[in-house]
Amino acid sequence: MQTNIEIETPTPSHDPLALFASWYSAVERSGDPHVDTMYLATATSDGLPSLRAVLYKGVSAGRIRFFTSYDGRKATELTANPRAALLFCWRAVERQVRIEGRVEKLDPAESDAYFAMRPRESQLGAIVSPQSREIAGLADLETRLAEVAVSHEGRAVPRPASWGGYGVVPDRWEMWIGRMARLHERYAYVRDGDRWRFTMLAP
Ligand SMILES: Cc1cc2nc3c(=O)[nH]c(=O)nc-3n(C[C@H](O)[C@H](O)[C@H](O)COP(=O)(O)O)c2cc1C
Repeated sequence: MQTNIEIETPTPSHDPLALFASWYSAVERSGDPHVDTMYLATATSDGLPSLRAVLYKGVSAGRIRFFTSYDGRKATELTANPRAALLFCWRAVERQVRIEGRVEKLDPAESDAYFAMRPRESQLGAIVSPQSREIAGLADLETRLAEVAVSHEGRAVPRPASWGGYGVVPDRWEMWIGRMARLHERYAYVRDGDRWRFTMLAP
């Protein structure tokens, strides 16, 4: 599909993070309801990969943010091997962004600030769900949810220590633009000390 939305073409003088922000807002303005769906790949220390969707939660200090359990499978893999790959695939506008880099836990204060903005149901859910563990069914979790709703009634829900944010510090970006005749455009920005090396890649 060719689109008529205004989206900048990557150039050597672009900062990839600023370019990403510009693409993101263009896709958001185009009305894509899933603009914030981001795929996150992690791997064990032996290099066995795993992949899942998470929600993109903006950028802070140059890091791409997402929030999750600190006890689940992705967290266990990130502790053993703190590197990740991210993918945004915006099919409606034929754009793709790939990001690779080191992963850091956000400061507790940053996770607290984000947690405080979440809907109460989600806050309570973060307390009761042992993410990625085997469960017999949802009934126990629903009972626990009802219990914590009562025990926290009338007061703010504190962020559990087992839940918070991560930030990916990019050292490689790739911006992909789909073209009709399959000669798609691919541009890479690879960190080289304190600058970015810009290249074009064959599709
Ligand atoms: C569209 C979409 C968005 C999601 N966003 C998040 C998210 O922001 N954080 C999260 O922990 N899980 C999110 N999930 C659930 C994850 O895909 C995954 O099931 C969960 O994080 C457990 O992954 P893990 O076992 O690899 O740790 C989302 C799922 C979908 C389909």
